[in-house]
Amino acid sequence: MSLKQKKDEIPFSENHILEASKIAGGTPFYLYDEIEIRKNVREFKKAFSWIPNFKEYYAVKACPNPYILKILKEEGCGMDCSSLGELVLSEAVEIVGENIMFTSNNTPVEDFKKAQKLGAIINFDDIKHIDFFQKQVGNIGFIGCCRYNPGDAKKGNPIIGNPKDAKYGMTKEQLFKAYKILKKSGVTRFGIHTMVASNELDPMYFVETAKILFETVIEIEEKVGITFEFVNLGGGIGIPYKPEDKKVDLNIISSEMKKVYDQLFKDRKNPLNIVMEMGRMITGPYGYLITAIKHKKHTYKNYIGVDASMADLMRPGMYDTYHHISFPQSTQYVDEQEGIFDITGSLCENNDKFAIDRKLPYIGFKISRFLIIHDAGAHSHAMGFNYNAKLRPAEILWNSEINDFKLIRRKQTLTDYFETLNFEGSIFQNLV
Ligand SMILES: Cc1ncc(COP(=O)(O)O)c(C=O)c1O
Repeated sequence: MSLKQKKDEIPFSENHILEASKIAGGTPFYLYDEIEIRKNVREFKKAFSWIPNFKEYYAVKACPNPYILKILKEEGCGMDCSSLGELVLSEAVEIVGENIMFTSNNTPVEDFKKAQKLGAIINFDDIKHIDFFQKQVGNIGFIGCCRYNPGDAKKGNPIIGNPKDAKYGMTKEQLFKAYKILKKSGVTRFGIHTMVASNELDPMYFVETAKILFETVIEIEEKVGITFEFVNLGGGIGIPYKPEDKKVDLNIISSEMKKVYDQLFKDRKNPLNIVMEMGRMITGPYGYLITAIKHKKHTYKNYIGVDASMADLMRPGMYDTYHHISFPQSTQYVDEQEGIFDITGSLCENNDKFAIDRKLPYIGFKISRFLIIHDAGAHSHAMGFNYNAKLRPAEILWNSEINDFKLIRRKQTLTDYFETLNFEGSIFQNLV
């Protein structure tokens, strides 16, 4: 019986991996599928095309590489930035002004200054940030947005937690005050934002969130005497990491949201736009972490040691999340014996594991064979770190139509890693 599952299917071959590996300077490296990313954004935008000015502000934090951002710009996306560095990345691909949504929290003044300089839409996370901004940065401009934390009105999910325990956003009472302050400060165009879940697979979750925001818009407009221009539903649409997960049906979110919108706003004179700042669902499924088997070990369990580690992809170690693992297409899955394995990196951390007790075919585990870790196109390379002096991996962009592999980030060298050390001596120079 073949152990191969639908999720094991990948769009590239072992030869493709070898070609990419040469460009990357060996494993581990990330591979992104440009054509599939483009197709996906188009489908996403099409699903919400009933919204006249629907806009996706891609969450830069999900995959902060300017080549990826440039692709998304070409597909009509703006950028959701949360820090100075992300603002600079957005600027680098010439996405500025209202095409940037600056959704930050506990915000340093330098970050606010840069956002103001670029003319970004400022999404205030805390009521006190309005005064802070005016005193330390200056004029907010004509457009202002606040982040709502609905507290008990909404159930959260494991990654963000319950809204009441989450550090983000303002209470409803604070919102009323915040919009009054913004109005008094000369802001004439208003938006409202919330994001209460991450990697959520239930389409109705987003419909309920939209309803809460729409109702809040009506309440604030009545009580504060302002008119909202947009609601920002944040990010959070999940992806099917596990073979048994179902892809979120965007058409359900869209059509059900439209029903609520039409019902609540049938007599509305001023158009209310809807925008989003998805990250994971835009690029997540189209990125892969390619690693190679280095060692096999047997003690109380079977271990397969690979050359990637949690420093390259921290999600499984940090959130105990599932990432599908498969082999290049040339691997035969037929009539194989299966086994139970832990797939580990080489960090001195016991949670440095890409999979625990994973059922996989024995035949796949030959030294130096490639392993493909799926769904690594968002919150993956970006969350990497340098613990144990591990170096950050390269990123490769693959265009399947012209079969072009482009190095969009070289792998880090030891010289890069030691560069910031203020230590005398030449031992740290010219290392690879
Ligand atoms: C404020 C904000 N917007 C958007 C996103 C993107 O979320 P996702 O990638 O789950 O769609 C995040 C993720 O952390 C976020 O914090």
